[in-house]
Amino acid sequence: MSVLDRIKEIDKEFEAEAGKDITAAGLDGMRVKFLGRKAELTGILRSVASLPADQKKDTGKAANMLQRKISERLEEMGKRLAEEKRRDRDEIDVTMPGIAASPGVPHPLTQVMDRINDIFVSMGFIIADGPEIETEFYNFEALNIPLDHPSRDAFDTFYIEGEHLLRSHTSNVQIHLMQNTRPPIQAIMPGRVYRPDAVDASHSFMFHQVEGLMVDKGIRFSDLKGTLSGFCGAMFGKDTKTRVRPHFFPFTEPSAEVDISCIICGGKGCRVCKSSGWLEIMGAGMVDPLVFEKVGYDAEKYTGFAFGMGVERIAMLLYGIEDIRFFYENDIRFLGQFK
Ligand code: DAH
Repeated sequence: MSVLDRIKEIDKEFEAEAGKDITAAGLDGMRVKFLGRKAELTGILRSVASLPADQKKDTGKAANMLQRKISERLEEMGKRLAEEKRRDRDEIDVTMPGIAASPGVPHPLTQVMDRINDIFVSMGFIIADGPEIETEFYNFEALNIPLDHPSRDAFDTFYIEGEHLLRSHTSNVQIHLMQNTRPPIQAIMPGRVYRPDAVDASHSFMFHQVEGLMVDKGIRFSDLKGTLSGFCGAMFGKDTKTRVRPHFFPFTEPSAEVDISCIICGGKGCRVCKSSGWLEIMGAGMVDPLVFEKVGYDAEKYTGFAFGMGVERIAMLLYGIEDIRFFYENDIRFLGQFK
């Protein structure tokens, strides 16, 4: 075989290898194999001088051209490899599914409390705040619940150091508010309350209430009914019926419990409303003149109504939650349902 033919074969060999997918290491191998010191082509180039004169020119030219071609091609392949590597590292694949951010949501009790607040604010009530650590005076005495009076049993209480206790209802804020301001008063008072109840599906030692108070000249029981039925319609749906039943609270006279038509069965009777068609939703009444006396209001001049509702109970009815403990366990599977 002539040297010229051999050069053609080296060319074919190179083309065959260059046509395959190649790695950086494979490229180095090709460089050694085709251009290295011991490469066949290098040997041929070195020996051109000793070829017979009639072959020298063509062989030399062919060997040189092949060497240059191989060298250029290898360089090109090297650039392509580097480019591919860079692209693998940098490129943003716009077809990849995104990583969805999952923002949290307010706690269901917060959501329900916010709705209650919003409805009353839309009716002109302001939101007031008061202490959770309280004295006997604000939690009981000023609300016409004397020491040793049987009505205290209804408000079982956590006592702490000395005179202090954890408030057992939000009604304490009524007293602070009336001491600090003059009528007219139109306020709601949301917050935590504490009672030493054994924890079960419907009891917790801490829960939430929203208290309400309206005091002015000429406030009547019909104002209470109108305000609270307006609230119930906005909260539970405008077809919800409201009724007021006589009840007893030491701080109101007359006192009442407010029921709504059962939001589960629509009033037909079911397990939740115990077949009555009605759900008790809050306590209310006309502020007892004895309470006005305790805060120095003239009971001849002013009248008012007050109410108090449990937020957990309302949230449980609205969402069909059967166990109060779900609210406090902070299981993300529970909380995530309130988006
Ligand atoms: N404080 C009462 C309770 O915890 C709820 C309540 C009833 C508040 C009647 C009031 C009211 O302001 O007028 O059960």
